Amino acid sequence: MAGAFPRVRPRRLRRTEGLRRLARETRLSPEQLIAPMFCTPGRGVRQPIEAMPGIERWSPDLCAEKARELAALGLGGALLFGIPASKDTTGSSGTDPNGIVPITVRAMKEAAPDLVVITDVCLCEYTDHGHCGVLEAGSGTDVHNDDTLPLLAAQALAHARAGADVVAPSDMMDGRVGAIRDALDRAGFASTPILSYAAKYASAFYGPFREAAGSAPKAGNRRGYQMDPANGREALREIRLDLDEGADLIMVKPALSYLDVLTRAREIADVPVLAYNVSGEYAMVKAAAARGWLDERAAMMETLLSIRRAGADAIVTYFAVDAARALSR
Ligand code: PBG
Repeated sequence: MAGAFPRVRPRRLRRTEGLRRLARETRLSPEQLIAPMFCTPGRGVRQPIEAMPGIERWSPDLCAEKARELAALGLGGALLFGIPASKDTTGSSGTDPNGIVPITVRAMKEAAPDLVVITDVCLCEYTDHGHCGVLEAGSGTDVHNDDTLPLLAAQALAHARAGADVVAPSDMMDGRVGAIRDALDRAGFASTPILSYAAKYASAFYGPFREAAGSAPKAGNRRGYQMDPANGREALREIRLDLDEGADLIMVKPALSYLDVLTRAREIADVPVLAYNVSGEYAMVKAAAARGWLDERAAMMETLLSIRRAGADAIVTYFAVDAARALSR
């Protein structure tokens, strides 16, 4: 009978690297990797982030230098987060046309015009309470959805005006993709794409990022707007809504605990699907490798490959530069 041992031997295709390469279903290349970057005011400023070894906050001049390096490595792009000089209750430094992100975008686009610069759009880096939107009157923890929308739209517009190639709302307010699309279109930025963090979960794996961005909520948590880790179907609903509102690309975040969601997202979405291999996922590998408990490079490559295999067209990852270097060797 055909189809059974000993005629059939799957190991035949695993015998040599040449055969394995030929039979390989999933490939990883630098253009599928997007590097997150943290920008902060000043000149020549570099601040290491303790829980994310190898990642630093940089001033705009260093971000511009780095942009050249990312472009030379052939990366898919950079995702920019701003750490402003000042924070207030409405996150007004986030909508400033001369705020930290617009300044850095201009510097990066001047240094490396071909590098795709994506900007994170959210209030949490800019509010003194650390929530992703403005708070309901009299509350220290409840975010007012509809009052947040115009601020997100203004922030996205400030980024587009500075030359951002893509704006990426990560706040999880209802209706924000549509609000941003309207604002961009009205201001003459109909061609600026929106990458929506469509299925973003309330995750413990954002811990190191909140150190990097100083954006941990002062009181309460993000479970009133980010998704419940127990829910898969709801992610598909979020994705459909964002596509209806005009999202050009969608993202699932985090990646590793949500590979099933990624696969299902890939099945229903006909736009590019991205995954965010988040700070905690990076920190786990780094911490284990530092103790000699894991082979860092092998764990990094297996992680990224598995995210691609699950359905991601591109991956936002703190490993982007290291992986691109490893791939080009
Ligand atoms: C902002 C934002 C967060 C991340 C990306 N955008 C933090 C959060 O929601 O608390 C997390 C990224 C990471 O952990 O690498 N809303």
